[in-house]
Parts: sequence; structure tokens; C-alpha cells
Amino acid sequence: MAFTFFFRDTHTLEHAVAVMIPEVAGRSRVRIWDAGCAMGPEPYTLAIILAEKMGNFAFKNVYITASDIDESGQFGEIIKRGIYTDEELGRIPEDIMTKYFSPVVENPGTYIISEGIRGKIKYQTHDLLTLSPVGDGFSMIVCKNVLLHFEYAERIKVIEMFAGALAPGGLLVTEHTQKMPEELNHLFTQIVPDARVYRKTETHV
Ligand SMILES: C[S@@+](CC[C@H](N)C(=O)[O-])C[C@H]1O[C@@H](n2cnc3c(N)ncnc32)[C@H](O)[C@@H]1O
Repeated sequence: MAFTFFFRDTHTLEHAVAVMIPEVAGRSRVRIWDAGCAMGPEPYTLAIILAEKMGNFAFKNVYITASDIDESGQFGEIIKRGIYTDEELGRIPEDIMTKYFSPVVENPGTYIISEGIRGKIKYQTHDLLTLSPVGDGFSMIVCKNVLLHFEYAERIKVIEMFAGALAPGGLLVTEHTQKMPEELNHLFTQIVPDARVYRKTETHV
């Protein structure tokens, strides 16, 4: 159930980041929530894309909360350590690998993510079905390959909760196969045709 990998569906993440960056320019705090983050490859991928596209100065103001129900009880520790095997890192472009990862000398075949990226992710164990968000005022919520595990009625409630946790005009990002339930069309508008990047509508604050 926690299947994930680094640089998964970067197409969608890059679209979302490209839309968000000009909209948050000049803000002293840009809050992002990665809901259902598994062992960390997704929030770390997102942080690397943001660092690459925003530049160091603006990236300093980004705060990413990564959460998961985590039935293994290990995700927090894995994410905090930021060490992954070369198998897990296989899809990362070489220039990114060199820039953001260093080999762990005492454990060959493993790599640690740079401190600048590691320090951006704050992990929290959290069950989305409590319908209580980890915070509010988010500029972006990424929830990929998670909603499909829920019943339709639960999915609607979780997406409504996301709408409440987003800042006005904030973005909700899901996987490509996740269609917005029709009942919620008043809450979100899909803003790019070929990626599930939704903007919270103006009327919903
Ligand atoms: C397939 S993984 C997706 C990981 C990552 N988002 C990705 O797309 O690569 C699904 C994750 O959803 C988490 N999950 C399932 N039910 C959840 C719930 N009720 N609340 C929070 N996370 C949940 C699982 O623990 C798992 O880590």
C-alpha cells in the first residue's frame, strides 16, 4: 500500500509548481502539505523540484508538512534520516543526484539527501479519515495515489477537508486517474488539461 518512488509523475508535480511559484512570490511563508507521503520519496522529490525552480532565496520560505497514517510506524524515522538505497533512487536524473545526494561511506549503495532538502520536510503521522487537517493556509496540497483507497463518500469528505485547509486560490494535486467527484465541481477547477492540478474556487474560502 505504501508503494512509491523518487521522481514519480514529475509531469504533474512540475505543472503544479510552475503555476504556484509566481503566485507565492514575495510571501514570507509558503506552506505545502503532502498527504499520504509514504516513506518520503514524494515530498523529497517535490522539495527538489521547488528548490530547482524557485532558487535558494525563495525556497527558504517553503515549509512542507508530510503526513501518512503509517501502519509500519517507521516513516517518520526514515524521512528524518533521509537515507535511501541506489535502487530507490534509480529514476533520479544524474545531475540532480550529484547535486542533492551524497554517498553514505559506511553503508555502500546508500545515499543521504542534502541537509537543505531534508530540513524542509516535517513529518507527522496522521489519518486523513479523521477529517481534521494538519494545518491550514496551504498554497498546495499534494495527495497522490491515496484517495483511491477510500470509499467514494470518504473521498468526498477528505477532498472537502482539503478545500478548507487550502489558502484562497490554493492548489490540490492528485494522480492522473483520480477524477474530481462531480459533487465537488463547485469547490475546485482543473487548471491544466493534462494533469490533475485543481485550484480552489474563489467562492470557497
Ligand atoms: C501508494 S502510497 C502513495 C505514496 C505517494 N503519495 C506516491 O504517490 O508515491 C499510499 C499511501 O497512503 C497512505 N494512506 C492510506 N490510508 C491513509 C489514511 N487514511 N490517512 C493517511 N494516509 C493514508 C498509505 O500509508 C501509503 O503510504
